[in-house]
Amino acid sequence: MPLIAQGARPSPNIWNHPDRYELENRAADPDRVIEAAMHRRRPWAGARVLDIGCGTGFHLPRFAALAAHVVGVEPHGRLVEYARRRCARLPTVEVRQGVAQALPLPDASVDVVHARWAYFFGPGCEPGLAEIRRVVRRGGAAFIIDNDATRSSFGRWFRQAFPSYDPDRVERFWARQGYARDSLDIRWRFERREDFEAVVRIEFPPAVAERILVEHDGLEVDYAVNLWWRLF
Ligand SMILES: C[S@@+](CC[C@H](N)C(=O)[O-])C[C@H]1O[C@@H](n2cnc3c(N)ncnc32)[C@H](O)[C@@H]1O
Repeated sequence: MPLIAQGARPSPNIWNHPDRYELENRAADPDRVIEAAMHRRRPWAGARVLDIGCGTGFHLPRFAALAAHVVGVEPHGRLVEYARRRCARLPTVEVRQGVAQALPLPDASVDVVHARWAYFFGPGCEPGLAEIRRVVRRGGAAFIIDNDATRSSFGRWFRQAFPSYDPDRVERFWARQGYARDSLDIRWRFERREDFEAVVRIEFPPAVAERILVEHDGLEVDYAVNLWWRLF
């Protein structure tokens, strides 16, 4: 297995700090707003689910609780191993090394695709979207989760960190690709301030991170996300 499959987008937060990213995943969306919104659009009980860019496989057991079969695809070899260890006792879950642009799956073989903060960040991800069209069967759905930079504390921090990000351009891109949007309000909820600080420091450049830590007290952050979705 190569360390990193060709075509991966550098993801220094999880590549360099998988344990801190675990803290982030545990803190993100404790009310499971994202899962509920997806499930309203296309339930996955008994279905075949694909998680693209599954990282350490945090979401795989959650899908496996209802789905018939779950595949995680992830380019980084160490994260593939992490995800496999996490799911070792779950017979319906498998993790394959690969990238969104060349999914290691046959045509028309999955019902629900999930990609959370992974690869699909608007213009430039057309090859991955073509692969989704290839592997999803009729009646299936694809869900892409990313940040809504126009709203919430997190969105404001995101704009400060990445001032060239253009939310209108991203929105036009998804509309052209036939994806609709659900605007969701989630939150980060940490148990310890030091965990919050550690996560802020892997998500934002140092100057922005230090400003956030001065300005924002407590253990919670309001966080707006976009759920882009399409039925097939
Ligand atoms: C920020 S992490 C999110 C991980 C996971 N979705 C989660 O929510 O825990 C982004 C992930 O996308 C993966 N990734 C990067 N380029 C990719 C590509 N071309 N195709 C699929 N996944 C990719 C990274 O290796 C990383 O694991």
